[in-house]
Amino acid sequence: LIRVQINTPPRPYEALIENGLLRSAGVYLRDVLPNTRRIFIVTVKRVRRHYGKLLAESLVEAGLEHHFLEMPDGEQWKTLKTVEELALKMVKSGADRESAVLALGGGVVGDTAGFLGSIYMRGVKVVQIPTTFLAQVDSSIGGKTGVNLATGKNLIGTFKQPRLVLIDPTVLMTLPEREFRAGLFEALKTGVIRNPRIFEFMEQNRDRILQRDAASLEWLISESVRVKASVVSEDELEKGTRMILNFGHTVGHALETETRYRHFLHGEAVGWGIIAATNIALRMGRTDDETARRVIDIVNAYGPLPPVKVNPRNILKRLTRDKKTIHGKVHFILPNVVGKVEVHSDVPERVLIHAVEELNQLSGS
Ligand SMILES: NC(=O)c1ccc[n+]([C@@H]2O[C@H](COP(=O)([O-])OP(=O)(O)OC[C@H]3O[C@@H](n4cnc5c(N)ncnc54)[C@H](O)[C@@H]3O)[C@@H](O)[C@H]2O)c1
Ligand SMILES: [Zn+2]
Repeated sequence: LIRVQINTPPRPYEALIENGLLRSAGVYLRDVLPNTRRIFIVTVKRVRRHYGKLLAESLVEAGLEHHFLEMPDGEQWKTLKTVEELALKMVKSGADRESAVLALGGGVVGDTAGFLGSIYMRGVKVVQIPTTFLAQVDSSIGGKTGVNLATGKNLIGTFKQPRLVLIDPTVLMTLPEREFRAGLFEALKTGVIRNPRIFEFMEQNRDRILQRDAASLEWLISESVRVKASVVSEDELEKGTRMILNFGHTVGHALETETRYRHFLHGEAVGWGIIAATNIALRMGRTDDETARRVIDIVNAYGPLPPVKVNPRNILKRLTRDKKTIHGKVHFILPNVVGKVEVHSDVPERVLIHAVEELNQLSGS
């Protein structure tokens, strides 16, 4: 069992990672929820069908009473309305302040259930059991919760640290191929920003990883979680260091919004964003040819990514509108060497335009 501590107020908590962990979930949950009377499991049909029974059996064995709450599957259901409906069901099933919310699913379930748990009766305990690659290495750690508004993604939310994150990499066996690959770019990101070993591991074990070899995934996920945990622990409210987690996300987000979230999965857009940031770094003399080549090669090795076909001017406009601009400046996370990045806020317009044009060219358009 691999244990990773996340040190954020109001109290530290752990992420536990092990192949097959879902089977013993009850034991660990009982430890962190000693006075909890009932656990409300928020999930979607597909995930419940695969893993609901296993989890339920483990909870029963540990003497924990549980109740399933299904929400509809998909990003379009990450809304206040869904939260309200889940809360109503909780009331009807007798949930009180001593109940806990357990998120069993991908990032959509995690964000929605986390938000629900943070406001239900002014807040109950939350635990996360992420079931997508993206959720296991990224969204379940760090306490960001929230839902979308009609006008934009993640515009309403809270910081709500869970009591425990349980990660069982074997559940990824049932994940659709495209979802799985897209998530890998978040792991790659953690390698570039903080840990060259992750990067090298991904360079050297491509086939094993893509075949979802259990031991390889367990290692890759654990190391990525360590990076996310350490960055978040340094900066739980996202004021400084945590910005480096946005590596690949600046251009990535712009590509997602420009294509109305229909063309790329989030991780795929991040893959392109990583290439763009690397080309910008190269052009600005912040990295060397060798590093740039390695980063771009590895993104390609985990591709192919859906082609980019955008007007660079539109991307530029979107970048300056991003909610992550500070005092109107766009902050870019640029790689220096593998394992180290820097924040740069003065990337000239022409460099940006050129970086986006290069994505179009790489896509053959
Ligand atoms: N809170 C954060 O810090 C943070 C960080 C990154 C992303 N996010 C959010 O995460 C969301 C995206 O999450 P996602 O990529 O996990 O997508 P998702 O939650 O929509 O899951 C993708 C699909 O996979 C299915 N699925 C989940 N686990 C499965 C399994 N083990 N086997 C088979 N199918 C499975 C789901 O039913 C769904 O259809 C976005 O809303 C994004 O805003 C949040
Ligand atoms: Zn991301």
